[in-house]
Amino acid sequence: MDYRATSATVEQTREWGKQLGACLRGGDVVALIGDLGAGKTAFAQGVGKSLGVTSHMTSPTFTFQQEYSGQLSGTGTGTKVRLIHMDLYRLQRPEEVEVIGVEDAFEEDVVCLIEWPKIAEDYLPEIRLEVEILGSGESLREIIFRPRGPEWEQRIVDLNI
Ligand SMILES: Nc1ncnc2c1ncn2[C@@H]1O[C@H](COP(=O)(O)OP(=O)(O)OP(=O)(O)O)[C@@H](O)[C@H]1O
Ligand SMILES: [Mg+2]
Repeated sequence: MDYRATSATVEQTREWGKQLGACLRGGDVVALIGDLGAGKTAFAQGVGKSLGVTSHMTSPTFTFQQEYSGQLSGTGTGTKVRLIHMDLYRLQRPEEVEVIGVEDAFEEDVVCLIEWPKIAEDYLPEIRLEVEILGSGESLREIIFRPRGPEWEQRIVDLNI
């Protein structure tokens, strides 16, 4: 089932990311889907905030991925995790997914956020959360949470969207 939220401002989109962040655990993979300027990075910044990341998070378009240290704020509060934020926009062929080591991020101590995940879809864990953001410019955003796997389903239900 899909869970739909709306966001009128960039701050609200960050807030949704922050709310999701509070239920994240090590090993989680979240695919962030949406057009250029939809708000994927803004959402990722909110996740970072809930994990205690203090440095400013930008889209790692040229470096493909950026790692931050954080700690869980929900279940297992205080447990250290690495937040790996990827942006695969500039990848052109699925083989490049292996070259840049996307799969190395699917570890128990990592929360992994992936912008432009489509090119890597054959490599992504089946159990994951997809978050799609519709809208651009200054228009209202629709944020769709799509749990992939029953465990995610329960966690999204608990978000009370
Ligand atoms: N409701 C909203 N939610 C998110 N961003 C919004 C909203 N309203 C306006 N914006 C603006 O839209 C832009 C979203 O940029 P952001 O970098 O987060 O997009 P993105 O999806 O990561 O794009 P890209 O694919 O280029 O990485 C920001 O400039 C932000 O201020
Ligand atoms: Mg981005």
